[in-house]
Amino acid sequence: MIVAVDGPAGSGKGTLTKLVAEKLNLQYIDTGAMYRCIALKMLEDGIGLEDTEKIKEILDNVKIDLDGTKVILNGRDVSKEIRTVEVSNFTSPVSTIDFIRTKMVELQRGLAKEKDVIMEGRDIGTVVFPDADIKIYLDATAEERAKRRVKQNEENGISSNYEQILKDIIERDTRDMSRPNSPLRKAEDAVVVDTTDAECEVNAQKIIDVIKSKM
Ligand code: DC
Repeated sequence: MIVAVDGPAGSGKGTLTKLVAEKLNLQYIDTGAMYRCIALKMLEDGIGLEDTEKIKEILDNVKIDLDGTKVILNGRDVSKEIRTVEVSNFTSPVSTIDFIRTKMVELQRGLAKEKDVIMEGRDIGTVVFPDADIKIYLDATAEERAKRRVKQNEENGISSNYEQILKDIIERDTRDMSRPNSPLRKAEDAVVVDTTDAECEVNAQKIIDVIKSKM
């Protein structure tokens, strides 16, 4: 079974998808973490967006393991490094590069083979698994999403400024929604769950209700 969860940054995808995965015993796959790994590696190696050959080398040798709680890039735990503001901002343009997306989609399809998964991202219901059994599109206002990101950063010991985060979120949404390759959009057959007002547990239950109603 494949449950596809898409939506913009801060819509609660990470927290909610993880929670639902635990409750329904599904394998949780965070595809944003995969794009973040590529962006982190490029930053660390000083590779720019135009440096096609070097990026291809990274892709040919990359190994990303998602073990539920940790993100392992080429054998190294990068769970924290991939969440910095710098990596977040760089991941957005990185994820607009066609051949990077092609590689990530190939890896994502491989990860779901013969497993019951809940996979979250931007293009899961539209591109990665257009035939997913269940598709959910999470949404929340940009202001609420910015508030959540500030709180999340605090919890991770990263200092951040609300106005700047809001600006970054709006810019990132625009870029993610307007890129020609796999833009963020709701699949026609996705069920929208608005997470703006409710508590985490309530929103998770809304998602579980959608999944159960479709099973
Ligand atoms: O969900 P996230 O914030 O960790 O995603 C990081 C970036 O990666 C974000 O700019 C959108 C992009 N992304 C994507 O283009 N496609 C996906 N399936 C997942 C994330």
